[in-house]
Amino acid sequence: MPEKRVYLETMGCQMNVLDSELVLGQLRTLGYEPTRDYTSADLVILNTCSVRQHAEDKVYSRLGELKHAKQKRPEMIIGVIGCMAERTSDGIQQRAPQVDLLCGPGKLNEIPGLIQEVIAQRANGTSQHAPHQVAIALEHDHSRKLPVAQRTLLDDDIEAFDLSRTAPPDGNVLQSYIRVQRGCDKFCSFCVVPYTRGPERSRPPTRLVEEAKKLADLGTQEITLLGQTVNSYSYAENGKVVRFAELLERIHAINGIERVRFVTSYPGDFTDDILQAIRDLPKVCEYLHLPIQSGSNAILKRMKRQYTVEHYVDLIDRARSLVPGISLASDFIVGFCGETKEDHQQTLALIERVRYKNIFMFKYSERPGTAADRRLPDDISDALKRRRHADLVELQQRMSLQHHQAMVGREVEVLVEGYSKAAIKAQEAEQSRGHEISWRRSDQLTGRTRGDEIVVFTGPESLIGQMANIRVTSATALTLHGEVVTDCPSLQRTTSR
Ligand code: SAH
Ligand code: F3S
Repeated sequence: MPEKRVYLETMGCQMNVLDSELVLGQLRTLGYEPTRDYTSADLVILNTCSVRQHAEDKVYSRLGELKHAKQKRPEMIIGVIGCMAERTSDGIQQRAPQVDLLCGPGKLNEIPGLIQEVIAQRANGTSQHAPHQVAIALEHDHSRKLPVAQRTLLDDDIEAFDLSRTAPPDGNVLQSYIRVQRGCDKFCSFCVVPYTRGPERSRPPTRLVEEAKKLADLGTQEITLLGQTVNSYSYAENGKVVRFAELLERIHAINGIERVRFVTSYPGDFTDDILQAIRDLPKVCEYLHLPIQSGSNAILKRMKRQYTVEHYVDLIDRARSLVPGISLASDFIVGFCGETKEDHQQTLALIERVRYKNIFMFKYSERPGTAADRRLPDDISDALKRRRHADLVELQQRMSLQHHQAMVGREVEVLVEGYSKAAIKAQEAEQSRGHEISWRRSDQLTGRTRGDEIVVFTGPESLIGQMANIRVTSATALTLHGEVVTDCPSLQRTTSR
């Protein structure tokens, strides 16, 4: 039988990247091999994001292209999975009748069954005569919040989905994600995630350790623990509650794992035991992604973020005093409902005060069904949102440059990820012009420090997948440049072979 091909495109957050990896693993057991060419694929899946309107618009435009591809190859199955499927399954069915399958993020284990359903319907000829039928699996009734007692209970089927992972299709296991929580209970007034990913549920620590061990056996050196509010992880085990700091300890104890990271932390629930874990556990990296969203208390209140700017700054100060040199990142929304010039100035002042390594900044995008959509007017013009966004970009560029420049001259531990993208691009450009490649592409390598800074340096290919010590020689706002410290043990190991 000829091989079946799947084209899977992932939009959005790290959780989606992990979901896609698991979905691909599952599809491989059904005989689907990944392809990068959607026009020749038997199955096309879009793993979608609903956090901003822009992300949803992109999906509709992609579905337009897929409509043409399906007209040429009617046997093609098109699926929309992830947050957008959950948020607006009716909207998708109305606007994109070419879609055959819809699956929410809490039901991804059901995709093989949905594919069977589509194939069976086509074999019966129903889809040619009766109205087009869509195979659908969605998680909830969104009006329902789980009772507290059920928040750590997880459906065994979806647990099996997380546990089903094998080596990823591209074979790159050096850095892996593990989901520690599903969903979110915070209901920030701007955010759609609680409605698409459902209530917060923590996964059992024994399962997480089992998953991390499996990944370590496959060759993973760096694990990133994922959750919407990862620091509020809490699981009742034998009458005792396992909290996030203890989970870090258990993952830390696994042989073969060299680095542990976690995202995203919620400032309101952040306790010092986690800072102590970062300080005391050598494998836990000195990096915190701690989204504040705004530097104005009035805005934070309207966003229903359950902390103040003062609480946040105090937490940052404690982090810096307990873990000197810790690298900090954050998220900001500009142009939220009623944001004044003063609110905006306070955000800029906070960014200068905290001195982040990097920040992610977004223009407020009203999401249907959220509290802000129901109660607050989206009253900042797009032009003003754009200007305020540009202010943040400009300021953070200066801050990132300062952050990186302060590292020049220092020696840093880098996990070498591969060839530098810039070097690969340069080589591809040379090739496309028909030039002979006279230099080896392994010249330029890239890796990450414990603080998540990107470092580009010249080194032998054999360093890929290893830890290397790099002396930082220069810096830009985006990257560090450096040279291999020649007495580095991993270099001696690899060159003496
Ligand atoms: N805790 C989650 C947050 C998910 S959304 C996490 O794991 O990162 C990621 C970021 O998108 C948020 O921190 C926020 O800055 C931004 N965001 C969320 N909803 C938004 C909206 N309606 N408009 C603009 N940005 C939004
Ligand atoms: Fe969204 Fe707030 Fe949760 S940003 S994911 S509702 S913490």
